[in-house]
Amino acid sequence: MTASSVEMPDVRLRGVVKRFGRFEAVAGVDLDVARGQFVTLLGPSGCGKTTTLRIIGGFEQADDGEVAVAGEPVVKDESGRHTRMVFQSYALFPHMTVARNVAFGLRMDGLAKAEIGPRVEAMLGNLGLADQAQKYPRQLSGGQQQRVALARALVTRPRVLLLDEPLGALDLKMRKRMQGELKALQRDVGITFIYVTHDQEEAMNLSDVIVVMEKGRVAQVGTPEEIYRRPASAYVADFVGETNLLPGRVAAAASGGLRVSTALGELTVRGKPAPAGSAVMIAVRPEAIVLGPSIPAGQARGSGVVRSRSFLGALTRLAIESRGTTLTVDSPGLAGAGVGDTIEFGWRDEDLLALPENASSTRETT
Ligand SMILES: Nc1ncnc2c1ncn2[C@@H]1O[C@H](COP(=O)(O)OP(=O)(O)OP(=O)(O)O)[C@@H](O)[C@H]1O
Ligand SMILES: [Mg+2]
Repeated sequence: MTASSVEMPDVRLRGVVKRFGRFEAVAGVDLDVARGQFVTLLGPSGCGKTTTLRIIGGFEQADDGEVAVAGEPVVKDESGRHTRMVFQSYALFPHMTVARNVAFGLRMDGLAKAEIGPRVEAMLGNLGLADQAQKYPRQLSGGQQQRVALARALVTRPRVLLLDEPLGALDLKMRKRMQGELKALQRDVGITFIYVTHDQEEAMNLSDVIVVMEKGRVAQVGTPEEIYRRPASAYVADFVGETNLLPGRVAAAASGGLRVSTALGELTVRGKPAPAGSAVMIAVRPEAIVLGPSIPAGQARGSGVVRSRSFLGALTRLAIESRGTTLTVDSPGLAGAGVGDTIEFGWRDEDLLALPENASSTRETT
């Protein structure tokens, strides 16, 4: 998958640091991306996703560390040898037709005219743009412009495609559709994709591997399922999907986990061994909490008052207050409880996970 890959990784970062003044935008990133993978850099605004991508693309010089694509060191301003980048703003040439926009990279690469035409045509066909070839970018919808930007990058057959929030400007419906198309396209062309987004749902939907970033560092690397089910820290659990985080203190070891005292009493949870008295965060997903009559025997854990409820279609989301703590619970169908009702809640102990808090990091170098 990642570090364990025996093959040479397509993209390899070691100890990469980028400073702007005294501020470390990228604070020591290690990453291996295997050939043909769809890898997503996921994290909140300002965590260093774009900067990392620009370093891989050769648009930005790292202050420290090593970057290699296809085994060759990346040198700034010699970008485009193995990589192409798709920008959030599309950056199409406004005075060129769609066909000329897509042909641009091939012309720059010095391809013969006789070869350029058919390649451009085939690529436009692949992306459903055959009818748009003679239009100018301003005459296209956002989704169409996005596809032109993709076509322009893909037509040069880069080894690695770098995509910086390429769907950010589209409305939700178009975004979802383009997600599906992107994923299918990536599978077809077999090109390594490194994709940047701050949308965790998009990351889950698209990626083979997600790299969760926190303040210029890698907080966790894993498949969407690993990141969701076994987050390495409270930060990751909180960022990827809804989660309840309960502060607690380790009371004792338990078989395969820990006993932790919390506002909701002493709980049995999964987690790495930790000394008694140490502080942990307990993460439990809203869908892992069961309510009222649905609680299986032996899994009742307490009761609380329903403070709010909202209908989310397939689920009803309830806020349940118990002993000064509010739990978010996602219940399938119509949970039969109204605001103000007292209701029992429960869970399986294995659905509670004890996590270290956020990976601490110093951001300023002095
Ligand atoms: N050229 C620059 N000069 C100074 N600071 C910069 C520069 N580029 C980025 N930064 C800072 O580095 C940090 C990381 O920026 P980056 O653009 O990589 O974040 P990001 O994760 O892509 O965020 P977003 O989701 O908002 O696009 C930010 O705090 C940003 O202000
Ligand atoms: Mg960015």
